[in-house]
Amino acid sequence: MKPPTCTTAASRLKKRSPLRPQLAIVLGSGFHHALAELRGARKIAYAQIPGFPQPTVRGHAGDLYFGHFGQTPVLVLSGRAHFYEGHSMAQVTFAVRTLAAFGITDLLLTNAAGGVNRKFRRGDFMALTDHINFMGANPLRGPAIAGRNRFVDLTDTYEAGLRQLLAAAGRRAKVKLQQGVYLAVSGPSYETPAEIRAFARLGADAVGMSTVPEAMAARQCGMKVAAVSCITNLAAGISAEKLSHAEVLETGERVKKSGAALLKNFAELYGQQQK
Ligand code: HPA
Repeated sequence: MKPPTCTTAASRLKKRSPLRPQLAIVLGSGFHHALAELRGARKIAYAQIPGFPQPTVRGHAGDLYFGHFGQTPVLVLSGRAHFYEGHSMAQVTFAVRTLAAFGITDLLLTNAAGGVNRKFRRGDFMALTDHINFMGANPLRGPAIAGRNRFVDLTDTYEAGLRQLLAAAGRRAKVKLQQGVYLAVSGPSYETPAEIRAFARLGADAVGMSTVPEAMAARQCGMKVAAVSCITNLAAGISAEKLSHAEVLETGERVKKSGAALLKNFAELYGQQQK
């Protein structure tokens, strides 16, 4: 049997909800509390969407939601497939390609990241201005996809207009929003202090294990992309503390209200701008 395509997955979603949002938000650690703000949420388990990989990490659910933030209709992905779980890049980007086939035009990606920039504090948020792909794989590698450019321009991966909306949402939500370059590693180990010193010299402000493949696939599909990190810890060697997934979850829990307020305000401002 042939594996399900993203077009099949998208038509399943259309059958499950009459809502046709233009904006989708992917929730990473530290942002799941946004679901508490979602009005009239209708939940669809990833298991019910053909081709969606099942997440395997604690703190990562696997559900898609249709709902509204304020007046703005949104599609929310709670939980994502990571490269470090052993998924192929095709699996990691499948959900984003499904969103494009569904008709999503604007994508906000969120994640937990380690702070490389010495000015960052635990619990800060950072809007991505650009990224460095250090995952050792390019998600666009593979047979040419009909109707899709293979040689994608990544000059403006994180779109200026959406970044301005994020900044405005930060001010409205009274959340301090840093800006910077996100460097993606494959994980799942954390980095060594030597790696973090090297990444700082390369121009990274934060380091994490997601987002970049999704952003690249979304750009290939012609979507506009914005992304924001919750700095859940200082990267290896920057503070004396040892790194752990528990610390990442603990910081995410501590700042969950700020993360939720940032996303809700972003969606509301986005909706007002579309009018
Ligand atoms: N490194 C990589 N990924 C992460 C980190 C980190 O320090 N914190 C949260 N995700």
